[in-house]
Amino acid sequence: MASRVLSNQKRHDSPAWRQAMTVRLDYNAMMAATVGKPSGLAVQDLNGLAGKLAAAHRQIVERTGPGADFLGFLDLPYQDDTALDRIVATADRLAKLGDRHVVLGIGGSYLGARAVLDALGDPLHNERGRLARNGRPRLYFEGNNLDPDSMRALMDFLPAGRPAEAEAGFTVNVISKSGTTLETAVAFRILRQRLAQAYGDRYSERIVATTDARRGLLKEQADREGFETFVIPDDVGGRFSVLTPVGLLPAAIAGIDIKELVAGARSMAERCKSTDFLSNPAYLYAALQHLSEERGRNIWVMVAWGKALEGLAMWYDQLSAESLGKAGRGRIPLASVNTRDLHSRGQELQQGPRSVVVTNLCVDRYAPDHPMLWDAGDPDGLNYAAGKTMGQMLAGARQAVTFAYSRDQRPSMTLHLPELNAYTLGQVFYLFELATLVEGYMAGINPLDQPGVEDYKKFMFGLLGRTDMAQWKREFEKAPTTDPAFVL
Ligand code: PA5
Repeated sequence: MASRVLSNQKRHDSPAWRQAMTVRLDYNAMMAATVGKPSGLAVQDLNGLAGKLAAAHRQIVERTGPGADFLGFLDLPYQDDTALDRIVATADRLAKLGDRHVVLGIGGSYLGARAVLDALGDPLHNERGRLARNGRPRLYFEGNNLDPDSMRALMDFLPAGRPAEAEAGFTVNVISKSGTTLETAVAFRILRQRLAQAYGDRYSERIVATTDARRGLLKEQADREGFETFVIPDDVGGRFSVLTPVGLLPAAIAGIDIKELVAGARSMAERCKSTDFLSNPAYLYAALQHLSEERGRNIWVMVAWGKALEGLAMWYDQLSAESLGKAGRGRIPLASVNTRDLHSRGQELQQGPRSVVVTNLCVDRYAPDHPMLWDAGDPDGLNYAAGKTMGQMLAGARQAVTFAYSRDQRPSMTLHLPELNAYTLGQVFYLFELATLVEGYMAGINPLDQPGVEDYKKFMFGLLGRTDMAQWKREFEKAPTTDPAFVL
């Protein structure tokens, strides 16, 4: 796969390179010294959280906090290479079987893989020939919505009979911990039937299921029909599962170095062992968000500077919303991409309500990009910026926006990825996962469950005809009928 990754493997092994790749959180623009009072925080405010942070830390290391059965994600940076080698071997097998690979999953069973591929994949991956893709298949995501249009387009595109050449063949990775999630299960039934149509009784070698070790319909089906399976550990919840086969298998299929992702997470896990909480990135981030929420900043915007980071912002959007939006509290997350959204949300973030806190995600060094050249006639009046690269312009825009926000006492912070590669991305995943846990514990909630998600499902399943949900259908039907007076 042609990728944006700058550094080669030899450099990965050097401690100096790893040090240079350390992700940094710049929170100057959260502090009163930069954004003034009362918007900004004082060091004393952060120090004042020492007790709460220490209590959260105790709950984490002793694994005694709410939802402690789901703290397995803390161990994932330390998983051994054997498990990772098996993922890579399966990815290589699938890559040989066909040139189109469909990943099915939703929520935590989708967004991590999406984030990795957005960040580290070639933006034009699917458009390139197989050679330019290093023999990796084209990738498609489905089962992440009930979307008739995208499913129809995919089905039109996939072969209905046995394809003439291996390259035209397709494979499927279905990811669902519960094995019963509607969106994924529906898409899987459709695709499995298509595989059976195309490959007869050899269809099952083209399917990999990532699911629970023991429970669920998908697990039963995999055992019955002989799909290769990967396990989502019992103690890892969906939105904390990016460093399991849930995120790692799709990444490996795209040819991304999953050991580097894990190594990056491990380096962050080591940094986050510090009990000097204000030099511990996850605890510090949690503290900044906690103080902001206490001060009424309950809208959180993560701004991805560059499209490559949009998936990461979306991943954190889900992690934060499903973990922290409980008991009448939490902060409303909003993922945004700049400079694109400077032409829409930018207005409101600069001058709208003061209930917002912005986290910028930025990359400090890009692979060489195209400088804008001098043009003798200066037809567009852009010669003042001749010689500047797109990366330099993006950085200039970010600095300008941060300054403009600060001047208007609007707090923000910036997470710097020295480069965009698997090692830096792995650090970010672990940082935000742990920060979310700490933040939840400081708020006194269980950040590891999602009881609210279940509510709508019973009505939906009832309406779709599931007999065990018939009582919810009846309840739905008792609701007042739509009054035409209120329909225009
Ligand atoms: O974070 C979560 O637990 C959820 O977002 C789940 O990942 C999502 O609902 C998909 O669930 P499943 O993997 O069971 O299909």
